[in-house]
Amino acid sequence: MDIYEVIKQDHDKARRMIAELAETDERAAERRAELYPDLKNELMMHQHVEEAVFYSRLESEDDTRADALEAKNEHHIVDTLLEELDVMPKDNDEWTAKFGVLREVVEHHMEEEEEEFFERAREVIDDSLARKMGKQMQDKKAAGLSAMEHVNQAS
Ligand SMILES: [Fe+2]
Ligand SMILES: [Fe+2]
Repeated sequence: MDIYEVIKQDHDKARRMIAELAETDERAAERRAELYPDLKNELMMHQHVEEAVFYSRLESEDDTRADALEAKNEHHIVDTLLEELDVMPKDNDEWTAKFGVLREVVEHHMEEEEEEFFERAREVIDDSLARKMGKQMQDKKAAGLSAMEHVNQAS
């Protein structure tokens, strides 16, 4: 898989997880609390690895630098929302409202990445590098997720 396929796969997974969470309401706080940590881990890991492998390359090229910097700031907004949602009680409408904003921001970001960002990235990343980066992204994500599992087991 090349970098674009790996990212698309992550995005589709995140979309499914978000849709599932969006179906829960205030009366299903337990279910929310059960689903939410997985979404948070998934999104944080995706963003972290995407920045390390994909954005870092795009930041070094004049043609894609502005896009990469903007996208990184959007990740920052997502991180902030994820942290806030993590500590808020899940059984009220404030959580529902904030989750709705998270959904909007994340879905818009992913769409922009797939529809505009990829096209510009292809101008500065050749096919063989795109495959290498895909592998790097998968490896880093696998390593990060297993490290997180160890942390969770230890706590
Ligand atoms: Fe992103
Ligand atoms: Fe992404």
